[in-house]
Amino acid sequence: MLLFRLRPISISLSPNVQRDDVWLTLKSVLKILATPRAIPSAVANLENAFKEYLGAKYAFSFNSGRSALYTIMKALDIKEGDEVLLQAFTCNAVPNPVLWAGGKPVYVDVDSTLNVDPSDLEKKISDKSRAIIVQHTLGVPAQIDKILEIARRHNLIVIEDCAHALGAKYNGTLVGTFGDIAFFSFGRDKVISSVWGGMVTTNSENLANKIGGIYKDLPKPSRSWTLKQLLHPLLFSVIIPTYYIFGKYLLAFLRIVRGVGLAVSKIERMGEQPTMFPARMPDALAELALHQFGKLEKYNTHRKEIAELYFENINPAYARLPARYEGAIYLRFNIRHPNAKEVIQDAKRKHILLGDWYKNIIDPIGTDFSKMHYTPDSCPNAERAAREIINLPTHINISSKNAKRIVQYIRD
Ligand SMILES: Cc1ncc(COP(=O)(O)O)c(C=O)c1O
Repeated sequence: MLLFRLRPISISLSPNVQRDDVWLTLKSVLKILATPRAIPSAVANLENAFKEYLGAKYAFSFNSGRSALYTIMKALDIKEGDEVLLQAFTCNAVPNPVLWAGGKPVYVDVDSTLNVDPSDLEKKISDKSRAIIVQHTLGVPAQIDKILEIARRHNLIVIEDCAHALGAKYNGTLVGTFGDIAFFSFGRDKVISSVWGGMVTTNSENLANKIGGIYKDLPKPSRSWTLKQLLHPLLFSVIIPTYYIFGKYLLAFLRIVRGVGLAVSKIERMGEQPTMFPARMPDALAELALHQFGKLEKYNTHRKEIAELYFENINPAYARLPARYEGAIYLRFNIRHPNAKEVIQDAKRKHILLGDWYKNIIDPIGTDFSKMHYTPDSCPNAERAAREIINLPTHINISSKNAKRIVQYIRD
């Protein structure tokens, strides 16, 4: 009981980190401090693991999904005048790499799965369209068959955004294997986390050659940057269990002194490109990502079980439930409620910290829509979803007891 009062039920706060990850991180910190060239094979091992898992011929690791997507844009030679289709109800981390490369994002409305609506996609294609980014939002696959058919007819390159969906399947086949090229993220709240990280996979020799040509000249993040990121899981292993004694104050302090950085920087809200993108993945973070990758099936099985618990116990009369799909991995379980903001604030008072991805159709709040080329009212389904969204946690540190407390809270 006492522990419950100190530790919040939370959707974020390094959700995937377990004790073994903390030990590994600690060892990596010590290794880096002892020798400047730690774990040199981790990047290659991580890339090989992805190739094997997805049956992909080529894989390139990066320091983020943003670097991965930006490099794809460069490889496709996206430049001024070129349009790249992508869905509204997303993070500015998706349109920004398009903008940084010089392209123009064009927004497609969402369907009931909160992914690209194929019928709106048809309407948004123009003779300037070059590519479509297919996001599998919160781990629920998009209607990829229909999207592929439309893309083929219009000669569009299909880029799968699997930032939320590593391990999700569409008709029994892993997402990330349908399009011309795919990218993944290992950001702190993603399916597997190494604080920062990303991957591009493809079977196209032509695209791989182009990515490889760019990749060889990319910098690797510095030792000090890598060390700072490794502190993240270590700090959170202290912050979470003590959250209501001093943890949240420590977190606030660390944010002020920039001991813990933001996942999306302020300048990105204005469409600007931080100097850290694009870059390769450092070995120490690749080692952590590889370690987490080894737990992927366990993580996703757990997510599906918690999602099932929500499906079975949340009455749709209280909140609209997400699409039920067997291959979904439910990175976050999104429900919808007309008073979403109030519900999230009220839950917080009861020590339940729920999520609000994407309460802004291009998250986070403060993102300048005109800089993102988004025209208000152009994607009404996405706008409505953004007003109503509440994300419930499914991660490995959420027990079924925690999930039942959330269900009870919603019922009350
Ligand atoms: C849907 C989606 N795609 C891509 C990204 C970019 O990933 P990263 O944070 O690793 O740059 C994010 C996260 O920010 C995301 O939510």
